[in-house]
Amino acid sequence: MCGIVGYVGGKRAQPILLDSLKRLEYRGYDSAGIAVVGEGVQLFKAKGEIAVLEASMPEMEGTVGIAHTRWATQGKPTSENAHPFVGCNNKIAIVHNGIITNFMELRESLIADGHKFTSDTDTEVFAHLVEMNLDDGDLMDAVRSALKRIEGTYAFAVVADGGDEVVAARNESPLVVGLGNGENFVASDVTALLKHTNKVVYVLDGEMVRITRDAVTITDQEGNRVERKPERIAWSLEDAEKSGYPHFMLKEIFEQPKAIHESLLGRLESIGAEGSFFQDQSFSSVKIVACGTSYHAGLVGKYVIEELARVPTTVQISSEYRYSTAARENPLVLLITQSGETLDTIAAAREARKRGNRTVAIVNVVDSAISREVDHVIYTRAGPEISVAATKTFVTQLIALYLIAMELGIKGRSLTAQARKSVTGQLRNLPRAVQDVLNQAQTIEALANKYHKARDMFFMGRNIHYPISLEGALKTKEISYIHGEGYPAGELKHGPLALLSEDSPVVAIAAKDHTYEKMIGNISEVSARASPVIAIAVKGDTEIGKFADDVIYLKEIPPLFLPVPVITALQLWAYYLAKARGCPIDKPRNIAKTVTVE
Ligand code: M6R
Repeated sequence: MCGIVGYVGGKRAQPILLDSLKRLEYRGYDSAGIAVVGEGVQLFKAKGEIAVLEASMPEMEGTVGIAHTRWATQGKPTSENAHPFVGCNNKIAIVHNGIITNFMELRESLIADGHKFTSDTDTEVFAHLVEMNLDDGDLMDAVRSALKRIEGTYAFAVVADGGDEVVAARNESPLVVGLGNGENFVASDVTALLKHTNKVVYVLDGEMVRITRDAVTITDQEGNRVERKPERIAWSLEDAEKSGYPHFMLKEIFEQPKAIHESLLGRLESIGAEGSFFQDQSFSSVKIVACGTSYHAGLVGKYVIEELARVPTTVQISSEYRYSTAARENPLVLLITQSGETLDTIAAAREARKRGNRTVAIVNVVDSAISREVDHVIYTRAGPEISVAATKTFVTQLIALYLIAMELGIKGRSLTAQARKSVTGQLRNLPRAVQDVLNQAQTIEALANKYHKARDMFFMGRNIHYPISLEGALKTKEISYIHGEGYPAGELKHGPLALLSEDSPVVAIAAKDHTYEKMIGNISEVSARASPVIAIAVKGDTEIGKFADDVIYLKEIPPLFLPVPVITALQLWAYYLAKARGCPIDKPRNIAKTVTVE
C-alpha cells in the first residue's frame, strides 16, 4: 500500500505536496518522492521516511506536482524504486498505488522497443507507456491509452512537462479529489486534503479525472463525462493531527471515550425498527470475516452475538475464508475492516455474495472500496486513525458488534425489553469505564517500564477475554517488537508452559465471571514456572493480589462489556512498552496500515 497526492493551483506545489504526503505516511514509509513541473519535470526521491526526503531535497519552483510515499511490494525499498517515475525522457512523471500484474511482459516488450528501465518495480512500465502515447499531445488521452495495456489495481497520478494539470485514474485503489479555491488536489485519502478543503469528490473504479486550477473533469475510460456532486467531509484537520500528543497512537487511545460516544449516537434508539436492514433478513447463522485487529474484534463479536442473540456465529480470517469451501449454510456475512481497503476482506465480500449470502461491512473510512461490495454498511465513526496500530477503531468495531447483536436479539426474540434496557445502559456507560482506564495511564506506564526488557510476553484470557488476549499480544509485538502470544488460559498447560521462565512475563485477564476461579488456577501454574504475572482485574477484587506480582485494577462492569476497558489498558501497556524501548510507535517496521496485497 502506498499514498499518492497531486496538486494544481496558484501556490508553490512542493510544500503543499510534502505536507499532504506526511499525512499519508501511515500508508507506507519505505521511501518517498516528489515531481514538480517547473523548468522541466523536477524529480527528487529518497529511501526512508518522508523526513529524509524533506531534509535532503532541493527547493523546487512550480505550482503543479505529484508525490508518493511507498510501502514496497515489487522491488526493494531503495531510492531507485521510489516513485515518481519519469520514463526515458523526463517529459512526464507518474505515481502509483496498487499492483500491475502484467508488468513483466510489458517490461520485456518495452525494453525490446528500446526503453531504459531504472527500477525493479511493476509501476515503471506505466511511465514508459504514458510517455510513448504522449507523442499524440493530450495527457488525458495518453493516460487512457496506457491504461488499456495494463492489468491490476491502481490509483495513478500523472503530470507532464509544461502542463498545468494532473491526470489521475483509479481501479480498486482509493482516489479522492479535493476541491479548493483556485486550486485542486487528488489524494489517496481525505486526511491529506483536510488542511486545504473538506469539499471532495470520490473517484470510482474505472474512472479518470483531470484537475486544473479551476476545473475538475471526471470521465469513464472511454472518455464519457461523469457528473458527481461534491461531498462535505465531517472530519476536521485537528482529527488528523497529533494535537500535542507525542504519538498518534496515544492520541487515538485517548480519543476512545469520544469515539464510543459518536458510534452510539442516535443508534440505540432506532435498534429493532421495523423494516430496518437486520429485521428484514433471513439467515441461519452469522459468519464474521476480517484480518488482524478487525479479526480479533470479530472473535469478541462471536461471544456477544451468541450471548445476546443466541445466533450461532463463526469467525474466519479473510484470506482463509475466500479460499474455503462453501458449506451448506446461509449465514449473514459480516466483514470488518477499518480501512475498507484490505484486499483479502474485499475479496471475501465478493466471495460471500457469490455464495448468495447477504453481506454487511463494519467500516471506518467512509465511502471506502468495500462499501460498494456489500448489501449494508455500518460506519464506526471513530474519525481518522493515523497510527498503524489500530486502537480506537477496534473499540468502535466492538460497539458496532454490540449493536448488531442487539438487532439480532430483538429479531430472534431472545433479547427481552428489560435486557435491552440493561445493554443500552451498559453501552452508554462505556465511555466512562474507558476514561477510568485512561486516568491510570501513569500507573500502566510505570509497570511497562518495569517489564519492558522482556523478550517474550504471554497474554491469557478466558471466554470473551481470550480474543482480547490475542489483541493485547498483537499490539505488543507490532509496536514494541517484544514477541507476544495470546492464549486461552486453559490452553497454556498443553504446550506453551514449556516456554515460561522469569524472563517471560504473563499478562492475565481476570474478569470476575464464571471463569474467575479457573483463571486463579492458571495464574498459579504460571507463577510456579517463575514467570512474573501482571493481572488485569476489577476494583474490589481482594484475592488477585495474592497471586499476581502486579495488578491493574479496572472499574467493575458486567463481563460482557469488560473487553472495552481491558483492551484500553492493554493498548496503553503496549504503547508504554514500545516507548520504553525507544520504538517508532506510529510507524512500526515492515508493516503498513492498510494491506492492499494478497
Ligand atoms: O483496515 P483493516 O481493518 O481491514 O486492516 C486489517 C489489519 O491489517 C489491521 O487490523 C492490522 O492488524 C492492525 N493495523 C494492527 O494494529
